[in-house]
This record gives sequence, C-alpha cells and structure tokens, in this order.
Amino acid sequence: MGHNTGGLPSNLLITGASQLLTLRGRVPRRGKALSELGIVKNGAVLIRDGMIAAVGSRADIESLPEARTAEKLDVGGRVVLPGFVDSHTHLIHAASRAEEYELKIAGASYEEIARKGGGILNSVKKLRAATANALKKRAHRALQEFAAHGTTTLEAKSGYGLDLASELKILRLQRELNQEQPLEIVSTFLGAHVVPAEYRTKPGGTERYVALLTETLIPDVAADKLAEFCDVFCDRGAFSRKDSKRILEAGKKSGMLPRIHAEQLTRTGATQLAVQLGAASCDHLEQVNKADIRALGKSNTVATLLPGCDFHLGLKYAPARELIAAGAIVALATDYNPGTSPTMSMPMILSLACTQLRMSPAEAIAAATINAAYSLLRDNQIGSLEAGKQADIAVFEVDDYREIPYYFGVNKCWMTLKRGRPVFQKAHT
Ligand code: NIG
Ligand code: FE
Repeated sequence: MGHNTGGLPSNLLITGASQLLTLRGRVPRRGKALSELGIVKNGAVLIRDGMIAAVGSRADIESLPEARTAEKLDVGGRVVLPGFVDSHTHLIHAASRAEEYELKIAGASYEEIARKGGGILNSVKKLRAATANALKKRAHRALQEFAAHGTTTLEAKSGYGLDLASELKILRLQRELNQEQPLEIVSTFLGAHVVPAEYRTKPGGTERYVALLTETLIPDVAADKLAEFCDVFCDRGAFSRKDSKRILEAGKKSGMLPRIHAEQLTRTGATQLAVQLGAASCDHLEQVNKADIRALGKSNTVATLLPGCDFHLGLKYAPARELIAAGAIVALATDYNPGTSPTMSMPMILSLACTQLRMSPAEAIAAATINAAYSLLRDNQIGSLEAGKQADIAVFEVDDYREIPYYFGVNKCWMTLKRGRPVFQKAHT
C-alpha cells in the first residue's frame, strides 16, 4: 500500500472481493432478516476521505471516473465485510485473573470466588493500585488485538474503579485512547458493577453507595461528558432490580442511556426493567424466561449475547434461537474482561454463536455488525458497507463467509481498515 503524504487519506479502490458482505437493508435486523448479508460477488468499494463513496460489482465501481485515479487495493479473492462492532467490553483493567481461572477449573464457582473477595473486587484492588500509564499500555495492546481480529469500533465500560477518582481515571483514559489510536471507543459508565469493599462493612452500605452513584458519580461523569451510556450489573451479589432502576433512571436524567447486565447468573427481572426504561441494550440473558423473551421481541432494546462468558465459565448459553424467533434484535459481543471472558476475538465469538447458540453464520455476522452498531446508536455511520458510511472494513483470508466462524482458534483476519486506513495487516509469510 502507498503512503499518504497529505492530511486526508487519498481515495482508495478495493477490488477482488470474492464475496463482499454489504449488510445493506433494514435496520435493526429481526427474525428472518437477521440472515440478510447483502452479498455482492466480485465486489468493489470506493473510498473517499475515509468514507464509502460507492459499493457494488467490480465492473460498476471501476467504471466510475473517480475510481481511475484512486489508490488500488486488490484483496485477491478474499472475503470483505464491515469491521466488527464489539458492543460490550470491559477494556480497562490492570491484570488477568489467571489465578481464579485455575480455581474455577478445580471446581470453585464464579460466585464462590466473588463472595471470598475475589472476582470483580480482585480487579478493583488491582486497578486502584495501577498507574494510569500502566493501564493505558495494557489497553493499547488489547486494542491492537481487537484490530487484528477485525474489530473497528468497541464499547468500553468503566467499573473496576468504584470510587470517584478511579472511575474518572478509567473514563478519561478511554477518552484519551479514543483520540490517540484509530479504533473508536464508545464509553459506558459502570460504577454500579458491584458494591465496593469499603461500603460492604458500613451499616446501610449498599444504600450509601447507590446514593454516591446517583448523587455524585453519575452527575460528575455526565458533566464531563465522559460516557454516553450508564450500565448496571443487576444480579445476585451485585445490584437488585430496585437499585438498578434508581441508578439507570439517574443516568437517564443526566443524559446517559441505559444498558444493563441482565439475567446472567440468576433471573432478577432486569430484562423487564430494561424494556420499561427503553434501554439501548440488555446483555447476557442466560437465565431469561418466556415472558422476558416476549418482551424483548416486542421492544427496540437490543438483546446482546455474550457466549464467551459461558464458554469460559462453563455455564449454560442464552436461548438465542428463541430470542430470534420472538423477533428480538440480537447482537453479539466479546464481553472482553479478566473474570468471565478474556478474549478480544469477535471471530471466536462467532464460532461460539454458531456451534453453541445455533445461530447461522449469516445471523452471527449481522449480529456482530449492523445490530451491534444499532445498539450503540451508530447504525447511520457504521455496521454496513454503504455509500455515506465510514469505511470500516475487515478482510478475511477465506473463500466463503461461512469459513469465518468455521475456523476457530486461528486468526483468519487478513486486513482491517478504520476510516479507510489500514490498522492491521497480516504479516507476509
Ligand atoms: O460481563 N457480570 C458482570 N461483569 C462482567 C464480569 C466482570 C468480572 O468478573 O470481572 C461480565 O461478565
Ligand atoms: Fe460485562
């Protein structure tokens, strides 16, 4: 690839896509529409200043006058699709929890470990002790891994700080990272991850922490415009449905739309709350009941499934087929975090979605692109390859899109472009 000497990226013509998955069509995707990929065979994309100028067959695009002067990239028969939108991550944390991984393998449950002060509180202790520099370095490396697996936009939650200074430290780092490296980071405030240790020993500790969240942290985060969304972990050992409602309503009042960790370990009714509040997304859903599925099916709240957690913890998977049949807007995300899903790989999530959630490869791809973009309120900019959208593109070293989930445990991503610029390119072997 040539170099840009000017400030703006030059025009770029991508050709040689055996299958170009445009994902054009209705947004969001529900039911049968979830498998519509809008495939163009022998497709081409013309990019102008980081945006998509035209998409179509090679012959049509090459005949455009602008195509002649554009820089050329022939992808040699590989598969081209929109960059993945990873709509649920806990990007910033200080360290892995490999020690807990070993305990879990030996038979301890996630909740047992959490009750003994491990789990999220373990990560909180480590994050509070870490310098901003060390956290940033770790996140930078993770972002390169995300890019290397075809992700171009990701949501990132705070939630391992759980005091004003540490939560602000995380959200400010996310803002800096968003400005300093090419992937787009969408911030969510998750001060309501769990009640921090110092409040657990106080009388009325939970009540006091909820008051801290609603009266101080949420208004402060919103005043600095540090997060677009507000999230709560509503579960046994975390926050009750009643407290979650108070927190999410306070977030909404401050201009942050709700997202929610719902029915992961136990059923709490968090899904019904998400629908009532018009949440952008309701995530996990392993323990949903029939009424929850029906409610999601009739709502505009995205059902974000995180099969990486169930794979890592050895727990049951969410009822994806029933959610799709009920008309829910299903999305997929990594939930990258040190406790339940240590992966930056959306292709691995697609593999799990296919073999464990019984989603078809086409459904999994639409869930990981256009529906995830919708859950981040960015379906006008990203999630499909259409004129006027950002040129956020992943190229996979496969002949057929179904091979993206089919191969697992190996990285078939060949190139990733963000706003028309390569952010990852596989080394020549
Ligand atoms: O999405 N469920 C709560 N939050 C994370 C896990 C966080 C952790 O264990 O560190 C999740 O699974
Ligand atoms: Fe999570």
